[in-house]
Amino acid sequence: KTIMVLLAGGVGARVGMGIPKQLLKIAGKPIIEHTLEACEASPLIDEILIMMNPGTIAELDYLKDRPGSKLSRILPGGATRNETTRLALAEIEGNPKVLFHDAVRPFVDARIIADCVDALDEYDAVDTATPSADTIIQVDDSDCITGIPRRSLLRRGQTPQGFRAEVLRRAYEIASGDPDFSATDDCGVVFSYLPEVPIKVVAGSGANMKVTEQIDLHIADKIFQLQSASADQLDHELGALEGSVVIVFGASYG
Ligand code: CTP
Repeated sequence: KTIMVLLAGGVGARVGMGIPKQLLKIAGKPIIEHTLEACEASPLIDEILIMMNPGTIAELDYLKDRPGSKLSRILPGGATRNETTRLALAEIEGNPKVLFHDAVRPFVDARIIADCVDALDEYDAVDTATPSADTIIQVDDSDCITGIPRRSLLRRGQTPQGFRAEVLRRAYEIASGDPDFSATDDCGVVFSYLPEVPIKVVAGSGANMKVTEQIDLHIADKIFQLQSASADQLDHELGALEGSVVIVFGASYG
């Protein structure tokens, strides 16, 4: 059995629209509904759990009881992303494959999900990442460069991140005894507290962006428009989007 957890416990402070960004509508639906549908479209996902921002959990009532839905439960998230993961893990029994996905990455696709699920046949942890077009530099506290790692070895982390549930549970148990715990994602917890566990990396995609800042709402809107056009055109246009931002307002969705 494979479970997908949608992490939606955040408030979207950087987007700053007064409601959690996962509830903002793009292409006619709240972002989280697009993400849910993208996950439901994968034949490899059996069950989906949403961990929602507690103050707005009732906003998702309408997603319950959809015919053929894989959504089993909508539960309150925690104060941090890691806490939200921890709460989800507490709801999951046994040792299934579990994928954690940001509710604000609506462009995850069946190929990425399949690669994550398949990797868990061989590995206990898997991350999704994409190459960086930008050079990544490392700096110190006074913003001076301390390192320029080779770009070919660098990736930008996305989600889903997948685990055998027992392994992630063990990593969080060890982390709970660390007063200096600091991690933002779940692979980071396994990497820090179970360093002997290899974490496989599968290829993400340029489209699998996280809606983080206001500008991302426009980029996501554009990607939805292109998706309703054609896949070839999407690849072409995404190439053009790198380094510059194209904003098209008001086009219709097919
Ligand atoms: N998340 C979560 N629980 C939290 C915080 C974040 O489940 N306590 C989720 C978010 O809802 C989002 C994903 O983790 O789907 C990625 O986090 P981020 O983009 O940082 O979302 P927010 O915390 O909402 O954004 P901000 O930092 O701007 O407030």
